[in-house]
Amino acid sequence: MTKIVTEGAATSNPKLLAWVDEMVALCKPARVHWCDGSQAEYDSLCQQMVEAGTFTKLNEKLRPNSYLCRSDPADVARVEDRTFICSKSKGDAGPTNNWMDPREMKATLTALYDGCMAGRTMYIVPFSMGPLGSHIAQIGVEITDSPYVAVSMRIMTRMGQKVLDVLGNREDFVPCMHSVGKPLAPGEKDVAWPCNPKNIYIAHFPDDRAIWSYGSGYGGNALLGKKCLALRIASVMARDEGWLAEHMLIVGVENPEGEKTYVAAAFPSACGKTNFAMMQPPAGFEGWKVWTVGDDIAWIKPGADGKLYAINPEAGLFGVAPGTGAKTNANAIAACRANSIFTNVGLTDDGDIWWEGLTDEKPKHLIDWKGRDWTPESGELAAHPNARFTAPMAQCPSVDPDWENPDGVPISAFIFGGRVSKDMPLVFQAFNWSHGVYLAATMGSEATAAAVNQAAMRRDPFAMLPFCGYNMADYFNHWLSIGRKLSNPPRIYRVNWFRKDENGKFMWPGFGDNMRVLKWVVDRAHGRGYGVESPLGFMPRHEDIDWNKLDFPAEKFYELMKVDRDAGTVEARAHEVHFEKFFDRLPKEFVYERELLKSRLWRSPDVWELSPSE
Ligand code: GTP
Ligand code: SPV
Ligand code: MN
Repeated sequence: MTKIVTEGAATSNPKLLAWVDEMVALCKPARVHWCDGSQAEYDSLCQQMVEAGTFTKLNEKLRPNSYLCRSDPADVARVEDRTFICSKSKGDAGPTNNWMDPREMKATLTALYDGCMAGRTMYIVPFSMGPLGSHIAQIGVEITDSPYVAVSMRIMTRMGQKVLDVLGNREDFVPCMHSVGKPLAPGEKDVAWPCNPKNIYIAHFPDDRAIWSYGSGYGGNALLGKKCLALRIASVMARDEGWLAEHMLIVGVENPEGEKTYVAAAFPSACGKTNFAMMQPPAGFEGWKVWTVGDDIAWIKPGADGKLYAINPEAGLFGVAPGTGAKTNANAIAACRANSIFTNVGLTDDGDIWWEGLTDEKPKHLIDWKGRDWTPESGELAAHPNARFTAPMAQCPSVDPDWENPDGVPISAFIFGGRVSKDMPLVFQAFNWSHGVYLAATMGSEATAAAVNQAAMRRDPFAMLPFCGYNMADYFNHWLSIGRKLSNPPRIYRVNWFRKDENGKFMWPGFGDNMRVLKWVVDRAHGRGYGVESPLGFMPRHEDIDWNKLDFPAEKFYELMKVDRDAGTVEARAHEVHFEKFFDRLPKEFVYERELLKSRLWRSPDVWELSPSE
């Protein structure tokens, strides 16, 4: 065998070097490159991808140091049915995860990895999830044959030589193996986006805390620090060590008096975490400020003072592009003004990017995400619905001064919300911790494309359905046990921005106006403000919400908040079905919570409504 050229960053970590040697022997790459994380390395990898046709450099004046990338149209999103939790026992993966025996999965993937990097460069990508050296942070090392992954990881994580320096000779890094699964025969010309979409595996080994991914180069399938490490593997670590790894944004809400309250919120994928994380308070909320700590993942640990402290393990934004515009999220638009990567969006004639919702006016002509000519008349989407921008968090104007605080920020409230068009009120507060855990565990969301009022509900407990690395019933129990250890646990709330009227129109303006709800949430978390006991939880009356500069009459608000007894009872029965599969591991508390919910509904009128006299 010819000697493989190895270049770049340096380490003498025996475990890491041995693993890399083993993977080089298995994958048989043409070259090995250790990522040092420097700007020069980033620029040269991007340039290399421009030459390979993977990247298009955007107009330097309009979008400095930024690139457009088009993926294979068959490789555009996470693939949940090819995602596996390979714990030793099937029961530990639970009824909501795909499971395969770890030995069998390793045998399958070892065969696929054999020679899979032929003709390609193997990149070794050391990264830290969380501020470098923080006691909450974790180090991972991703081996990948995708330069797109290497440059994306430089934005999304703390990456390079500095991580190897912190790691030293420690053995507690998470090995993350990734290949696009497209070896090159001698002389074979590469394609712009190599992948193997018919043979994708996203495999997790919670018992050895390892990740093996094959076949996809996109998003959470390939940037293994994000969903694979920071959620699926980290949730297992959190279970074992007594903390929480959650699919949550983190914001700091500052009132005009300068009081700052941190809130974490879980909404399912594409349900508005990024928007909420960068909320611009509406007119009438002058002096209020929403600071961004994170927009997708939170690691939360109990502190010595009995409070919960959260960090954002990521360093970048991987945000849904369509629908993000100056009006809906000016902070996200500012965050990707430069030094960003745009995947599967449109390319304008002046070398900038465009997607549906970026501007009201559509460009007259552009090149769409599939590389074809596009005009507003072509009747097709310029950007794929899951097109994403990858941008450094530090460029977000609303980034919290404490976003990199290695000790995290103290959390006072948890918010849970899905996309529900019928029956689910705008906001209510859980009666207590176990009721809050029940509310989160029964959370559902509708498929966005589904028809009005016929949408199929997908239960997505804690917005963690695709991301919990172990049995979800054990996860519910873990949440209950965390609450028991806290002296003053955060208050828990349910929200729903997506209730529709009989004409199928959203009843709530959403976006910046969510600030009005957030203000009540924060007030209640501090023991201020008023809440009426409804069958579902504590609710604000019209006069408990700040309506400054918004005309939102009481009748309209009470319509948005009403609880239909029959619909509520159907929902409570659906909880029973939803929980059946968790069988004997389901917390006993949930049985009682459900019965309490049913009895509150039975005793309520046909339609329970707030009223001004309440
Ligand atoms: P992932 O990155 O996939 O985890 O998702 P995310 O939760 O960060 O999703 P994102 O913020 O990108 O969700 C965007 C979608 O939510 C778009 O369709 C927005 O129009 C919609 N959205 C966000 N906030 C609101 C709101 O307050 N009201 C309404 N009606 N839609 C909203
Ligand atoms: C999600 O799907 O919740 C995401 C995008 O945040 S990805 O990183 O691709 O999983
Ligand atoms: Mn997400």
